[in-house]
Amino acid sequence: MTVRPIITAPDPRLKAVSSAVEKVDSEIRKLVADMSDSMYAADGIGLAAVQIGVAKRVIVMDLDQKDGKKNPRAFINPKILWASDEMATFEEGCLSVPEIWDDVERPARIRAEYLDLDGNRVELEADGMLATCLQHEMDHLQGVLFIDHLSRLKRAMAIKKLTKSKKQLA
Ligand code: NI
Repeated sequence: MTVRPIITAPDPRLKAVSSAVEKVDSEIRKLVADMSDSMYAADGIGLAAVQIGVAKRVIVMDLDQKDGKKNPRAFINPKILWASDEMATFEEGCLSVPEIWDDVERPARIRAEYLDLDGNRVELEADGMLATCLQHEMDHLQGVLFIDHLSRLKRAMAIKKLTKSKKQLA
């Protein structure tokens, strides 16, 4: 298991559309383990493979981190089957968009399907934080960041801030 560096915006690699996993094998399970390690090391609650430079449709998430307990979940080839007309707004952040948080409106409830680590197809209904996080992470698989949901002005300000902090690091 390895902690891998997380790519931050603006970086063209984050705009890649990730490709479907053909077989859930040991390589994918290793990727999931690395993703979990990288997510926890960065104090995140969710991560898409593309954020560590692997453009495959794999997500890890842990919304239940209490008292240092870890309970990572993996979602492989996730797909939204249904989304509610009702919307919900949460303040979002992203490990690839450091130091920026903003409100994003998304469907409040979704039904989704994915493959688990054994390659079994699983269906789930989600609302609240889980629904929002799943949609946020699934956006990554399409090369979309949460700031892409903001107004043009807010997005431009966010990109400017990110570019500036990258220059300071360089
Ligand atoms: Ni994100």
